[in-house]
Amino acid sequence: MSNYHIKHLEEYFQVYRKSVRNPEGFWEEIAEEHFLWRKKWDNVLSWNFSKPEVKWFENAKLNITENCIDRHLATRGDKTAILFEPNNPIEEAQHITYRELHQRVCKMANVLKGNGVKKGDRVCIYLPMIPELVVSLLACARIGAIHSVIFAGFSANAIASRINDSDCKIVLTSDGSFRGKKSIDLKGIVDVALDYCPGVKTVLVAKRTNAEIEMKAGRDKWLQPLLDNAYGDCVPEIMDAEDPLFILYTSGSTGKPKGMVHTCAGYMVYTAYTFKNIFQYKEDDVYWCTADIGWITGHSYIVYGPLANGATTVMFEGVPSYPDYGRFWEVVEKHKVTQFYTAPTAIRALAKENLEFVEKYDLSSLKVLGSVGEPINEEAWHWYNHNIGKNKNPIVDTWWQTETGGIMISPIPYVTPTTPTYATLPFIGIQPALMNESGEELIGNQVEGHLCIKFPWPSIARTIWGDHKRYRETYFLTYKDKYFTGDGALRDGVGYYRITGRVDDVIIVSGHNLGTAPIEDSINEHPAVAESAIVGFSHSVKGNALYGYVILKEVGESRDRDNLRREINQQITEHIGPIAKLDKIQFVSGLPKTRSGKIMRRILRKIASKDINNLGDISTLLNPEVVQEIIDNAL
Ligand code: WT7
Repeated sequence: MSNYHIKHLEEYFQVYRKSVRNPEGFWEEIAEEHFLWRKKWDNVLSWNFSKPEVKWFENAKLNITENCIDRHLATRGDKTAILFEPNNPIEEAQHITYRELHQRVCKMANVLKGNGVKKGDRVCIYLPMIPELVVSLLACARIGAIHSVIFAGFSANAIASRINDSDCKIVLTSDGSFRGKKSIDLKGIVDVALDYCPGVKTVLVAKRTNAEIEMKAGRDKWLQPLLDNAYGDCVPEIMDAEDPLFILYTSGSTGKPKGMVHTCAGYMVYTAYTFKNIFQYKEDDVYWCTADIGWITGHSYIVYGPLANGATTVMFEGVPSYPDYGRFWEVVEKHKVTQFYTAPTAIRALAKENLEFVEKYDLSSLKVLGSVGEPINEEAWHWYNHNIGKNKNPIVDTWWQTETGGIMISPIPYVTPTTPTYATLPFIGIQPALMNESGEELIGNQVEGHLCIKFPWPSIARTIWGDHKRYRETYFLTYKDKYFTGDGALRDGVGYYRITGRVDDVIIVSGHNLGTAPIEDSINEHPAVAESAIVGFSHSVKGNALYGYVILKEVGESRDRDNLRREINQQITEHIGPIAKLDKIQFVSGLPKTRSGKIMRRILRKIASKDINNLGDISTLLNPEVVQEIIDNAL
């Protein structure tokens, strides 16, 4: 019997039990029956969470692009692989077939090779949501180069630190990008970044906006002429199962971003298997995930998972509000989208607008709706269910992380009964545990604690690029022999999981992970600032917004407060990106600290949320008097 496609609840429980009793046997069967291997593994799994070390399908040989492209050519050569929907609806959509994708990926692979890229080299990709982006990911994978995609909304500073951390020698970018009414000078941002990246020798530039840009002689080359002259076939590099496939940076609660490393075989198997089941994907479906490929959601569920299943995957360049708030629904109608996967922040933003934007369009093609990125609040869930799903399409609230590579806790649509705000049950092979403060696992139902995973799954990130120690400390030291997610969760009476939010210093704003430390570092670099602390407070569209408490140096005291606020946000935009800007900035004379000098964020969080009646015990603070002052001047 094949366990590849789960169709009933009893089948889910049966397959789940099998995957937990005998994970090796279970994943071996899935891997064997549904993928193309150049050589099979010697051993399915070896692992040790205290080292930590995880290896899946040891010594197997494969190339993920053979699985995502070549093997479909015989049966699906003329099927649309990538359905590109441009920013402006006046421009026509592009249907890129599997055959065309094959040729474009091979050409790009040959261009990379021609520019000296070899197996194991890191390639930085800073591109907007245009076909060249998918093509470059796959081209890297074709030749065994490790892609490092940087979301094309990040600042020059953020790019430079990521390029240097993973030592990229080449950057792929474009002349610019379109986002709604705006066009953005991506190449200009790259130029600034590269002043700090002496290792980058080559920049390949795709044309998108036709903006006039500067091309640095000897370094910058237009991509298109190179592609035109490249050979349309490229023999795939044979990769080891555990060779890195890509690096993707995610914010941590402290310091610089973490370059999460995902490897070839396990990542492929798990993203493909989750895609098939969690979206109940069928051959003629048109699947659309609205994320940007700059995030893990795009890597796993726009590119690798769908293509490994031979699916048609929509790639959308634009924004939900352009030309108006009906854009998503217009695209659903136009392309007869069957699965639609988006983020709570987008749902909340659209729910604020007139319902006419939804009602104008025929959404009857939809079968499954998805949500990802942060807890979905009940109101947004009902709006989505009622107005988009017409109370008939199941909503899959999918919980996972950059580090997990694929979806970990989620309903299977038409299989698992859903409950608003619950991610429901662990996916096949996933063994969650809730832990209490003393490090004990909470057994049974009706419990709440810190969410850990007890057993490896195929797409777990293997390390942090260049910093295995930090990988161990961040994920494996808090709870012995368990992967710690950084999230809190509860398990209800029937065993359903509800994710309650981050328990560390990461704040999720509009679905983007932001660590407090890098933002505070950025603020503190302002010449008038002595010290600062950031907390999140709840926001009707963004989920969370940022509230900053700032202590000024003497030089700052005489300055105009609103100007200072603008300058601080400008600085954050330059260092990190506009996403990290603060909604509120309060100037304070001190920050509440413990006797060991640690900022009591709990108190600051409560003040930011106007929840001041229950501040808890503040008598142990070093400076309890500052609390009243902060409350009196709160924004
Ligand atoms: C963090 C991971 C996974 C792709 C997008 C984000 C939060 C994610 C949910 C959900 C509640 C969620 C968690 C997690 N999160 N999905 N369905 N319900 N919270 O990836 O940037 O690595 O962020 O996003 O806090 O730890 P990421």
